[in-house]
Amino acid sequence: MRGLGHFIALLFFPMAFGVDFHVDPGSSNAHPLYAKSPVSVRSLLGTGSDADFSRVHHRIHKRSTDRGSDSCNGLTLEGYESKLTSNTHNWTFQDISGSVSLAWVGDGTGVVLALTTFQMPLVFLRFGQSKLYRSENYGKSFEDVSELINNTFINTDFGIAIGPENSGKVILTGDASGGSGARIFRSRDFGKSFVHTELPFHPLMQIMYNPQTTDVLAAISTKHDLWISKDFGTTWTKIHEMVCVVKWGIDALFFSTNLNGSCFDKGMLVLRKSVDLGANIKTVAERIYSFGIGGRFLFASVMAASGNIIPSASEEIMRAIHVSVDLGETWNMAQLPPVSHEQFYSILAANDDMVFMHVDEPGDTGIGTIYVSDDRGTVYSKSLERHLYTGGETDFTNVTSLRGVYTTSVLAEDNSVQTVITFDQGGEWVPLKKPENTKCDSTAKDAEMCSLHIHASYSTSMKVNVPMPPLSEPNAVGLILAHGSVGDAISMQTPDVYVSDDGGYTWLQALKGPHHYAILDSGGLLVAVEHNQAKPISEIKFSTDEGQCWHVHTFTQTPMYFTGLASEPGARSVNVSLWGYEDAMISHWVTYTIDFKDLLKRNCESDDYVQWLAHSDDISDPEDGCMLGYKERFLRVRKDSVCWIGREYVVNKQPTPCVCTLDDFLCDFGYYRKEKSSECIEQAELKGHDLEICIHGKKEQLQTSGYRKIPGDKCEGGKQPERKVIDLSKRCVSDLLDPQPLNNPQSEQSTSHTAPIIAMVIAILLTGLVFGALFVKKYVCGGRFLVHRYSVLQHNVEANGVDEPLETDVVGAPKNDFHDDSDEDLLE
Ligand SMILES: *[C@@H]1O[C@H](CO)[C@@H](O)[C@H](O)[C@H]1NC(C)=O
Ligand SMILES: *[C@@H]1O[C@H](CO)[C@@H](O)[C@H](O)[C@H]1NC(C)=O
Ligand SMILES: *[C@@H]1O[C@H](CO)[C@@H](O)[C@H](O)[C@H]1NC(C)=O
Ligand SMILES: *[C@@H]1O[C@H](CO)[C@@H](O)[C@H](O)[C@H]1NC(C)=O
Ligand SMILES: *[C@@H]1O[C@H](CO)[C@@H](O)[C@H](O)[C@H]1NC(C)=O
Repeated sequence: MRGLGHFIALLFFPMAFGVDFHVDPGSSNAHPLYAKSPVSVRSLLGTGSDADFSRVHHRIHKRSTDRGSDSCNGLTLEGYESKLTSNTHNWTFQDISGSVSLAWVGDGTGVVLALTTFQMPLVFLRFGQSKLYRSENYGKSFEDVSELINNTFINTDFGIAIGPENSGKVILTGDASGGSGARIFRSRDFGKSFVHTELPFHPLMQIMYNPQTTDVLAAISTKHDLWISKDFGTTWTKIHEMVCVVKWGIDALFFSTNLNGSCFDKGMLVLRKSVDLGANIKTVAERIYSFGIGGRFLFASVMAASGNIIPSASEEIMRAIHVSVDLGETWNMAQLPPVSHEQFYSILAANDDMVFMHVDEPGDTGIGTIYVSDDRGTVYSKSLERHLYTGGETDFTNVTSLRGVYTTSVLAEDNSVQTVITFDQGGEWVPLKKPENTKCDSTAKDAEMCSLHIHASYSTSMKVNVPMPPLSEPNAVGLILAHGSVGDAISMQTPDVYVSDDGGYTWLQALKGPHHYAILDSGGLLVAVEHNQAKPISEIKFSTDEGQCWHVHTFTQTPMYFTGLASEPGARSVNVSLWGYEDAMISHWVTYTIDFKDLLKRNCESDDYVQWLAHSDDISDPEDGCMLGYKERFLRVRKDSVCWIGREYVVNKQPTPCVCTLDDFLCDFGYYRKEKSSECIEQAELKGHDLEICIHGKKEQLQTSGYRKIPGDKCEGGKQPERKVIDLSKRCVSDLLDPQPLNNPQSEQSTSHTAPIIAMVIAILLTGLVFGALFVKKYVCGGRFLVHRYSVLQHNVEANGVDEPLETDVVGAPKNDFHDDSDEDLLE
């Protein structure tokens, strides 16, 4: 029932609870890792949903029923304390290890693996031991199964690889020191039994499952060889040397390699692919800097070849994004500004419809511009300027609980950081509405007029006390939990927890101070635990009305140092575990698992659900709620219902198409919109010129009315501007390769790929000043930087006679459906 993407997203979410969580770029799996000493939290960004395009100010809506007074009376939860006490299970690990990593295996199986590691940081050799524990009841009790791995030291950074979907596969990778290869432990039965295999190499990264065929594995070794196994790790074949980055595409394996040099020679890499697991390997792009895969798009950042330009010290080779929608057979040059070595591109989010791309500004400004793509990934519209992206951190968050909603931060002119939200997939960004039950803080000039600002990765990197990034789940429709502050800009003071139940239109202050939080039972139940590293805790808070009223349950008489919450990924469970360690000199790991089933008493019935129209405040208005050409009604549980939604719940969406307006269209190449206007106007400097664009390696002349349907927009009837493209069949200078006969063309079926998020980095080197000047003229002096939905224009390089193929390289880490902002490959 659930797709791969969903499952993996689930797998990953709980990590965010962890302390010292770290994802290697290129590793496809990670786990919550709790450590005993207070360490800084690496946060993850949440995933998101889609949007719609009403360019009018978004009105605020309330759920038609029950958002009544602020009082929390009327809830029938009498006697919950005893019900919860009898459903609180504790487990003490006879284990004094310093860290524990958790992994959920399968979906609805209740299987949790806990790997503890005890490590002595000696100078010359790493001495360590791991213990493995397994639970089959959602963490209520564990069995010590360390003999299955012979106490081998398991690498906690990337040593646990859980197979996708319900494959039940687990691979544990032993320490890589000594011997000719590492030892892996493999399980096909949800970790019940393991067989061990000696690898002929030492992995540099987590072993990667092919998402389509989980018996097929790939890994890069510490010597940069690429190894493949077709039999779930029993036998391995070396298929290539000097491989830098490897990623699974749909039915294809892509990797960047440097045939002659090292992976540090960014811009000199070659992108290769194999559709038959290494038997045949084909070069699909050369001189790339990095590559990435997002949705059905394959991206490569390609160096502009120096060609006849003699590079001098002051000149830089720019690089530009190239896009392929047919697995690298043909490439188009993205109509995005090229960047120099000190800049970077980053794919913030991508699905089969479109891409959010960040393009860093020249100079070390820490900001850039977000562009949204059309359905080909080729023509981009400017979406947000002054977007904060610094030190590898961005606050960009896909709000997965409502289509079209994304949040991020901008650096204001006064250098303050402010949060903005879009409800229409990047069409318009606005500040968040001030929660009604709050006052503006000292950052506000006006005590009444200010907005909510959300803490995400940037705040975490600035060491603000934010234990978790914003949280949303696709099956908890409209719900968002996040830390934030209320003022004119984000405050570095201790944040509070805010919730929204309508996808970010309105907010409520839910809890004072920082908390860990989790969404259970598809949003029917929220839990939170105060974040306080200084004192042991014994209480958990919960809410059955989407965060308006909170109740306290004392789960233990002996408080513990709390490290994190763990619940089954996917937010369908009603079991939640609190992990921590004893308040003692030699402290053991302890976990408390609370089963809320008894509290919820009964199953939700049809009376418990009410209709809710997304993106609307008036369900009776037929014009209201249109987003990307359609509106959706959802059945959501009433706030005052205390009932169990259940594991089988499927989000009940009732989409109805809307009539097209000009707002359902992007301005095409060469057109732009004036602020607050829907009309696309031809750029003056292009009037009377042929508009040319590179499609499939050919120059094509565009004939256009200036409009192009927004990707994913499903409007019907109404205004339908015409658009024609005339093929001039001229070759484009941006060709990556000489056109070759396509011997194995891949159909670009948009299979349910997991929309991995890629961070791309682009190369350095030297290119003509001319190019730079061109760029400045076209993009900076254009005077339209502030224009909303401006179609960015990038001429092919005809002007300065640069006539070389561009060279690319995109480093992308397939982060499985959630946005990982911690791209270590960024810059440097
Ligand atoms: C945002 O998240 C939603 C829900 O997971 C997903 O459907 C959508 O494709 C994501 N958007 C992008 C641009 O990745
Ligand atoms: C553990 O070690 C014993 C003896 O050294 C060996 O017989 C056994 O196969 C090993 N088991 C695993 C799972 O590696
Ligand atoms: C590798 O380097 C050698 C000499 O250093 C050169 O002749 C050869 O063309 C290079 N090959 C590639 C593929 O760059
Ligand atoms: C753990 O549970 C047992 C009963 O199952 C109880 O006697 C004990 O007090 C609990 N320990 C803690 C620390 O709460
Ligand atoms: C909670 O855990 C129990 C096992 O202890 C399991 O039977 C039950 O299905 C779980 N509930 C949910 C909703 O996951």
